[in-house]
Amino acid sequence: MNRKLITLTMAMSITTLVGCNEKNGAVDQAAIDEIVAGMTLEEKAAFVIGTNRVSETPPDAPECIKKYPLICEKFQHEADSFGVNGWEDLQQFVSTYSTQGRVPGAAGQHYELPSLKMRPFVYADGPAGLRIDAKREGDQGEYYCTAFPTETALAATWDTELVERVTRAMGEEVKEYGVDILLAPAINIHRNPLCGRNFEYFSEDPLLAGKMASAYINGVQQNGVGVSLKHFAVNNQETHRNGVNEVVSMRAMREIYLRGFEIAVKESQPWTIMSSYNKINGTFASENKWLLTDLLRGEWGYEGFVMTDWWAQENGVRQQMAGNDLIMPGSQRQYEEILNGLKDGSLKEEVVDRNIKNILGIMMKTPTALGYEYSNKPDLQAHAAVTREVACEGMVLLKNEPARANKDAMTLPLNAGAKVALFGNSCYDILVGGSGSGNVNRKYKISLEEGMKNGGFIVENAIADAYTKYLDAEKKKLPAENFWTVPVYDELLITEAQAKAAIEASDAAIFSICRMAGEGGDRKNEPGDWQLSANEKANIDLVSRVAHEAGKAFVVVLDMGNIIDFTDVLAAQPDAVLHAWLGGQEAGNSIADVLGGKVNPCGKLPMTWAKKYEDYASSKNFPFSEGDSITRYEEDVFVGYRQFDADKLAPLFPFGYGLSYTNFAYDEMTAKVNGDKVTVRVKVTNTGKVAGREVVQIYASAPGKTMKKPVKELKAFGKTALLEPGKSEVLTLTIPVESLASWGKDKWEVEPGEYTFSAAASAADVRQTAKVKM
Ligand code: BGC
Repeated sequence: MNRKLITLTMAMSITTLVGCNEKNGAVDQAAIDEIVAGMTLEEKAAFVIGTNRVSETPPDAPECIKKYPLICEKFQHEADSFGVNGWEDLQQFVSTYSTQGRVPGAAGQHYELPSLKMRPFVYADGPAGLRIDAKREGDQGEYYCTAFPTETALAATWDTELVERVTRAMGEEVKEYGVDILLAPAINIHRNPLCGRNFEYFSEDPLLAGKMASAYINGVQQNGVGVSLKHFAVNNQETHRNGVNEVVSMRAMREIYLRGFEIAVKESQPWTIMSSYNKINGTFASENKWLLTDLLRGEWGYEGFVMTDWWAQENGVRQQMAGNDLIMPGSQRQYEEILNGLKDGSLKEEVVDRNIKNILGIMMKTPTALGYEYSNKPDLQAHAAVTREVACEGMVLLKNEPARANKDAMTLPLNAGAKVALFGNSCYDILVGGSGSGNVNRKYKISLEEGMKNGGFIVENAIADAYTKYLDAEKKKLPAENFWTVPVYDELLITEAQAKAAIEASDAAIFSICRMAGEGGDRKNEPGDWQLSANEKANIDLVSRVAHEAGKAFVVVLDMGNIIDFTDVLAAQPDAVLHAWLGGQEAGNSIADVLGGKVNPCGKLPMTWAKKYEDYASSKNFPFSEGDSITRYEEDVFVGYRQFDADKLAPLFPFGYGLSYTNFAYDEMTAKVNGDKVTVRVKVTNTGKVAGREVVQIYASAPGKTMKKPVKELKAFGKTALLEPGKSEVLTLTIPVESLASWGKDKWEVEPGEYTFSAAASAADVRQTAKVKM
C-alpha cells in the first residue's frame, strides 16, 4: 500500500476528529457523521485498513528468511494459503512481530496521521497480560508487563469476581502503557485436547467460557480501554488455521461454539471482536455476513466493531460487506479491492460508511482520543501480588493419598520446613505462559526451586546443582525465548545414584512435568507432547520407586496450560498430583503456597480429562476429516462431558473435578421457577479440618423427549467464600429459563416437562438434585 498517500489523504479529513470526543459519556454521533461525510473514497478505503508498523517497509524474501528464519519456516504453510500474494504477504506478516510503532512491540495500530493532532490508536496482545517490547531502541526505560496465569488457569478458578480483579489489573497496564485495545480474551472451545492454543482458551463448556469472558471484559474495560473478544468463531485448531473449513451443524454452533461469544456480547459488550481465520461451512469467518452482521448485531445487539485476525488475507470487498469493519493489518491488495469496489459501485459506499462509523464510535472512547497522558508506570508490584493469588486459586489437586510417613495425615500439604528433592527441568526453569501472541514480556519468573525456598522449604542441593548445570549448558544450544519459541530442553536423564542420594536426604520427592504450546501449530499425540517422553518416563519410574522404597512421598506437579496422557504418570503411583497450569510470573511462589498449605487448593478442571486420547470423539477428525482442509464436527453438540455422558464413558478426571485439603457436604438444595428464571439454592458445609472454598456446579437435565439432549449441561456455578471448618454457606444461583433451550429446526426451543437440577462437585459427582416442571 502506498503509505504516503494514505497518510496525506487521511490527514485531510481526520483533523476534524479533534474535539469530537465523548460528550457526557456518550459518543457524539453527529460529529462522526460529519467526518464520514467529508471523506474521499481513498480516505475511506484507507480508514478500514489498519497497519501494524508505519515506518519500515517489509524486507525482501532472502532478507526476510535471514532475519526471521523461525517465523518463515513455521509460517510457510500459511504463506501458501495466503494465495495470490504468497511471499509478499508473508514478508508483511513476519514484520508484524517487530512492530515499532507508537508502542513498540504492540501488534498493530492505525496509520500515523500528522494533522490529526492525535496519536494513532494502538492494539496489543494478549490473553495472559499485555504484550509489548520491554526494551526500546535508544531508551534506558523498561516497559515490562505482568505475566498473569493463562486463561485455562483463570477458568479453573471458577471465580468470576477474581477474574474481574485480575483483568482490572491487566487493563491498568494497557492504559498506562498507552494501548487502547487489548487483543483478548480468547474464548474458543476446547474441542480437542491437542489444540495448540487451548491454554489461551477457557474451557470445553460454553457457559464457563462465556461467564469467564464476560468477567474478563468487565475488568479490562473498567479502565476505559477496550478488549477484542476472539477468535470469532469455530477456531478450534491451529493446523492450517488460515484455510481450514470447519463443517459444523447450526445446532452445535449455537449451543457450543457461539454460545460463549453470545454470553460475553450480551453481558459485557466488548469494544471490539476479532473474526477468526478459518472457514465455517465453506465461508471465511471474516467474509461471513450471517455471522458478523445478522447474528452478531441483528440478534445479539452488538455495538462495537469487528476486526480481522492478523493478516486474514481474504477479499477486502467481501469482508467489508460482511460487516468486518477493520482489516488488521490490511494489505495493498485489500486496499485496492475496496477502493476499486467503491469506484465501480460493486461495493456500496454506505457499507463502508457504516463500518467507519462503527470503528469511530469506539475510537472516540479510547484514552488516545480522550488525550490521556499515560504514565508508562503501571503498578507492577501490586499486580505481582494479584497474579500470585489467582494462580493459587486455579490450581487443581488431582490426587492426594494418605501420607506414607503418617497415615493420619495426607501427603499434601507438606510439613512446614520440609526438605524436598526437586526432579524435572521445569522445577528450575519453570514455564509460566505459552508462546506466540499469548506470551508476555515479563521482568522475571519465579521457579519452583525459588518458590519452595521462599516458602521456607529446604531444597536438596546436589540434585538441584545437577539440573542447574545441565540447563545452563542446554540454554547455550537453543535460541533464547522469543515470540515463537519458548525453549524447552530434553529432560535430564537422572541416575539411580542421584535419585537415591537426593531422596534419602529429603522428606519428599517432587517431580515436575512441563509442556509448551503456542499459536501456529497443534500438539501431537506423540512422546514428549501428549505422551511422556522416554526420559520423563524413565525418570518418573525411577523417582517413584526410590521414593516409595524409602517410604517418602512422591508428588507430581504439572506445569502446562493443558493436559497430557496420564497413563504412565498414574502407573508410577504418585501420592499426590497438583495441576498448576501455566501460572504466570509468580508461578513458583504460588505452587509453594499450595504445596505448603498456605492456600488450600480450590480450582476445578475446566475440561474433561480422558483415560486415553482416542476416547475423545474429536480424535477421529482432528485436525482434519479428509485431506488437509476439512474438519467435520461429527460429534455435533456432544463435546467434552456432554460426549462422555452420552457415550457412558468414564473419564480419568471429569470436567469440574478438583480435590481440597478439606471436605464439603452439600444439602438443603431447592430449585424454584420465578417467572423467567429458576432459582437454585444449596447449602455447602466445610466438614473437614482446614478452611477452604468449594466450587459448586449446577447441571440441568432436560426431559429429552422431543429432542436428543445431552444427559446434563452446566447452567450455573458458584464458589463459596473461604469457609472455616464447620461453617456453611448457602449459594443462590439464578438460571434464565431461556438458557435451558436447545436449537431446534431454526429457533431456540425450551422443551416442556420435568427438569432435574443437580448440585455437583464435578460432572461425575452429583451431590443433590431437585426437580422442576417447566
Ligand atoms: C493471533 C491473534 C493475535 C494477533 C496479533 C494472530 O496471529 O491469532 O490472536 O491477537 O496475531 O498478534
